Amino acid sequence: MRILVSGGCGYIGSHTVIRLIENGYDVTVFDNLYNSKITVLDKIEKITGVRPDFVLCDMTDIASLEAIFRDSHFDAVIHFAGYKAVGESIEKPLMYYDNNITGTLNLLELMEKYNVKNLIFSSSATVYGLPEKCPVDEKSPLFCLNPYGRTKLMIEQILLDLCNADKDFSAVMLRYFNPVGAHPSGLIAEDPNGIPNNLMPRIISAAKGKIKELKVFGDDYDTRDGTCIRDYIHVLDLADGHVAALNYVFKHKGNIAVNLGTGNGYTVLELIKTFEKVNGVKVPYSIAPRREGDSKSTYADNSFAKEILGWEAKLGVEDMCRDAWKGALNYE
Ligand code: NAD
Ligand code: UD1
Repeated sequence: MRILVSGGCGYIGSHTVIRLIENGYDVTVFDNLYNSKITVLDKIEKITGVRPDFVLCDMTDIASLEAIFRDSHFDAVIHFAGYKAVGESIEKPLMYYDNNITGTLNLLELMEKYNVKNLIFSSSATVYGLPEKCPVDEKSPLFCLNPYGRTKLMIEQILLDLCNADKDFSAVMLRYFNPVGAHPSGLIAEDPNGIPNNLMPRIISAAKGKIKELKVFGDDYDTRDGTCIRDYIHVLDLADGHVAALNYVFKHKGNIAVNLGTGNGYTVLELIKTFEKVNGVKVPYSIAPRREGDSKSTYADNSFAKEILGWEAKLGVEDMCRDAWKGALNYE
């Protein structure tokens, strides 16, 4: 079976491509390399022995996207491509709506035209906004605080409408919690253009001395050590969640949203301490004011993923910290 992977050169996409190949799927990746590098394909080949087909394509250009659908038949699409920086989305909302929404509409239109009816979509726990209670389950109220989050929510709604209109369509919307870590070979890791503002890349930058210190955003929250709680999940567990979701879409029609998280919450300080202990390095940090829009605590109720996909995370926070550092040492 052949799977089309949009954004397959990116962080989560590349790890998922590895798992797809290891599970016997043929893979075609398309990416515009906005936030990734073509060399990741060499690394995927080194790890799996197979080089996925690759097409350089921007999904907002429907003509070049259509050429991919004309050339091969796909049994399913896994849709990672999109912009993902929250701060940037506030500064440049039109750029986010254009890329994430127009790009997705193009993809869906071509899926309809070429009779490809199975989709896995990268949604995010960001759709829960500031959760009223934790663990958060899929029925919790949805609310977004920024344009990036709204693109995720809008695409979820578009998929719901599409599945209502086309009873042959099957979509699984995976709401990722906080993906961290890397392939344990150290060959592939998060390799964006610039340092993202997320916690793990900042911990790594501080440990490497690329920034003077990590700023911990607030230590006066009502949590066990005053810092915010998140559900960090190893990117390979996440990748396996996509393989499980593929098995599901092939057997079911309609639309479901599924949380992919470990169900365990860690504070910012706990993650820093674990990183230091596991890797034997120092992470210089200082306490800074709260970051606007941060939720005090977000972690998953993952019982639906267990029930419906037969999936659960296997790797712990120590694996995440060890593999993230090992991968980071191979990058600039
Ligand atoms: P990433 O930036 O590493 O990967 C996204 C890939 O899509 C990149 O390779 C980029 O070049 C490509 N891309 C962007 N716009 C494109 C376009 N118009 N046409 C073709 N390719 C395009 O991001 P990631 O961390 O791997 O995230 C993958 C998906 O998961 C995204 O949709 C993101 O919003 C979502 N997500 C990520 C996180 C996270 O913390 N990493 C959390 C929740 C959801
Ligand atoms: C952030 C985004 C969310 C997005 C997710 C994945 C915001 C408000 N939320 O979520 O929409 O889906 O990334 O891309 O931007 N922290 C520090 N110092 C830092 C960086 C982070 O203390 O330099 C803290 C944060 O306050 C937070 C935790 O670390 O408590 C995790 O932060 P982050 O990695 O940015 O993820 P989220 O806040 O969950």
